[in-house]
Amino acid sequence: MTTSLKSSKRNNLSGEIVIPGDKSISHRAILFGLLSKGKTQIQGSQNSEDVLNSLNVARLLGIETKVKSSTIFLDSPGVEGLSAPTTDLYFGNSGTGMRLFAGFLSSLNFSSTLTGDASLSNRPMMRIIDPLQKMGAKISASYKENPPLKISPSSGLKGITYKMPIASAQVKSSILLAGLNAEGKTLVQEKYATRDHTERMMKTFEANISSSNGIIEIEKSDLKTPGQIEVPGDFSSAAFFISACLISENSEIKIKNVGINETRKAFLDCLLDMRANIDLTNIRQLGNEEVADLVIKSSDLLPAKIMEDIVPNLIDELPLFFLIASLIEGESEFVGLSELKHKESDRLSIMISNLQELDVEVHSNEDSLKIVGKNDRIFSDGVFDSHGDHRIAMTMLVAGLRSPKGVIVNNIDCINTSFPEFVDQAKTLGFNLNNG
Ligand code: S3P
Repeated sequence: MTTSLKSSKRNNLSGEIVIPGDKSISHRAILFGLLSKGKTQIQGSQNSEDVLNSLNVARLLGIETKVKSSTIFLDSPGVEGLSAPTTDLYFGNSGTGMRLFAGFLSSLNFSSTLTGDASLSNRPMMRIIDPLQKMGAKISASYKENPPLKISPSSGLKGITYKMPIASAQVKSSILLAGLNAEGKTLVQEKYATRDHTERMMKTFEANISSSNGIIEIEKSDLKTPGQIEVPGDFSSAAFFISACLISENSEIKIKNVGINETRKAFLDCLLDMRANIDLTNIRQLGNEEVADLVIKSSDLLPAKIMEDIVPNLIDELPLFFLIASLIEGESEFVGLSELKHKESDRLSIMISNLQELDVEVHSNEDSLKIVGKNDRIFSDGVFDSHGDHRIAMTMLVAGLRSPKGVIVNNIDCINTSFPEFVDQAKTLGFNLNNG
């Protein structure tokens, strides 16, 4: 892939694509396959750098792995048979990989060091270190609260009751994974509901887990592989094309096999409330997750009002949501955005400055935002950097659809961390993409 691309105005998007596998679910399928004895086949996995880094870590812990197109084959000796890694465990760009693996590695009787790229090495880890230490884990950060994370052999974890100070599926999952191998019960109380792929997959692997009224309870469990896991398409990847179609004139596209888990699809629900022309067809169950085919048509949307409680369910779609808001007549409002500052980049500051660069009126106040949109807005040309963040790169390429002179996005290699097929699929749907 070239490192810069220019995206220019294009109407009449059309065509049909099958969206590749979900990142969150692919990570978890590898992790649970690793923790359960025997063979697990993961079908439709995401083939991204993030997921392949998790797979490599699983291999370093002593399991056999094979990849054939989008199917991953695992053969694990089970938790007892895992071996101490002889090198650092590298998670690349992925906070999900590092935080989830740290949870169960903290319960094992060998040392490990977890490292990442420049972006991951700057991300906050106290959010998992604190609860894991409360469970008895010997885990520490290297500098302040940043990776590398060092884990010393465990002398046994104890279950805790933990009230989450932030809404984070990664933190919740890290604690639940430690709870799988801890004495007694572990209870996690969520601040707001976050994506529940971990809980669903734990049920598929027969863990002792239950949840009610926002409290999840787990006990020491011996996982059993179902043998085969099917991964739905990634809603967060589909969101780029949903948005592209909504903001382009005379467009109609179909996106097949999109995961529509209740805790992931708040962006879709909000768009439907905002009068987006989107039909959900062929709704069906894929393992423990729900999927649908989406038919999207150009739409004249109403402004958005997004409050803090649903932010976790559309957290990864927010950069795109801000872009769309700038193209809707009227003022859109977003509240409770602080977690956006702690992603692969500071997505809040970057999107504010990118929109201002495109002459959009934006009012920000700590962790809230008001965006004054215009539905006939045409963006001037512009040059943007991805800041090494895949979602910023793809969002700005979608912005180019409203720019006759074109928007250049530099350093787009990071798109491979979550969506290596993005450029090809965008071209299939009619995006006007050229080397920048
Ligand atoms: C993820 C949870 C979210 C999300 C990330 C994937 C997961 O992060 O932003 O892309 O797979 O659990 P937080 O839990 O930190 O909000």
